[in-house]
Amino acid sequence: MEFKKVVLLGGGVLGSQIALMSAYTGHDTTIWLRSEDSIGRTEPKLERFRKLIIEDLEKSKDLVENEFGKYFYPKGLIDSWDDISVEKIDELIEERKPRLEENVHLELDLDKALADADIIIEAMSENPEAKKDIYEKINDKIDEKTILTTNTSTLLPSQFAEYTGRPEKYLALHFSNNIWKHNTAEIMGHEGTSEEAYNAVVEFAEDINMVPVELKKEQPRYILNSLVVPLLDAAKELWAKGVADPKTIDTTWKIGTGTPFGPFEGIDLIGLETDYNILKNKDDVDDPDSLNHKIAELLKEKIDKGETGVNAGKGFYDYE
Ligand SMILES: NC(=O)c1ccc[n+]([C@@H]2O[C@H](COP(=O)([O-])OP(=O)(O)OC[C@H]3O[C@@H](n4cnc5c(N)ncnc54)[C@H](O)[C@@H]3O)[C@@H](O)[C@H]2O)c1
Repeated sequence: MEFKKVVLLGGGVLGSQIALMSAYTGHDTTIWLRSEDSIGRTEPKLERFRKLIIEDLEKSKDLVENEFGKYFYPKGLIDSWDDISVEKIDELIEERKPRLEENVHLELDLDKALADADIIIEAMSENPEAKKDIYEKINDKIDEKTILTTNTSTLLPSQFAEYTGRPEKYLALHFSNNIWKHNTAEIMGHEGTSEEAYNAVVEFAEDINMVPVELKKEQPRYILNSLVVPLLDAAKELWAKGVADPKTIDTTWKIGTGTPFGPFEGIDLIGLETDYNILKNKDDVDDPDSLNHKIAELLKEKIDKGETGVNAGKGFYDYE
């Protein structure tokens, strides 16, 4: 299947990164946003990620002569490291930099955004009601051919399939943060997803330089987050119980396992708002005696101060 027009619903942390990878690989990409205010929030994100993408390409020139370069180059940006050269990277930058601008369009008009879309990627906040509402709203606006995917982190496609009006063409396509470097795309259907739509999404993931990870059945949190979330939860519990501060917890994890990243650095990257929204879906979060309630309070305190993570310049760490 040819993916000429790609549409993102939502242009937050992930929506803007997905849009840029789609643009980088030559696809005409539209981000639908619900208000002028959303445009004001999305534009600086796009700018920041454009800059990071080009910086990472520039930095990868230093890896050309490095025997470990093949492990560290940005996999979503450079197709192959075999016979890579500084000249080739320069050519790539020259060719792709304009695409990051020219191939991305912001659109407030939902009908215009959806017209003739080959694939829609819903990347709105992790709010089940809002997701259900938008699926119902776009139901009769989208073409027969259009495949609808969701980037939801914690919800399941089977929860929403009936609201989409196209259950056979609806499935999850889940990205990691910093997708131009961490380029996994987990593909997960529900029982009613057709094999054709599933395979088309695998093809699309490859088209935008992702490594498709094919899940054979529905799994809450896919593969990656089934591994990562228990770690982040344990870190927040230690913090909320007052056992140690975030930096000590991160340092212990990094030194003890040799991992370059600590759990709180991970939360900063994900964004504290997303983390908070996910936590709000937990059953005991309104119980004042629960640890989740305490964690939610602590996160909310930081969010209210604008300390929402890497994108804001401050979260658990200072990025200015
Ligand atoms: N942040 C991550 O690391 C990450 C990783 C993988 C998947 N995801 C998933 O991607 C989705 C988006 O996450 P994010 O981190 O980009 O969130 P975000 O808060 O940065 O962005 C959310 C976007 O949705 C828009 N939005 C919210 N409610 C809306 C509504 N009712 N109508 C229209 N637009 C609305 C916002 O304006 C914004 O553009 C979530 O489902 C999340 O679980 C996030």
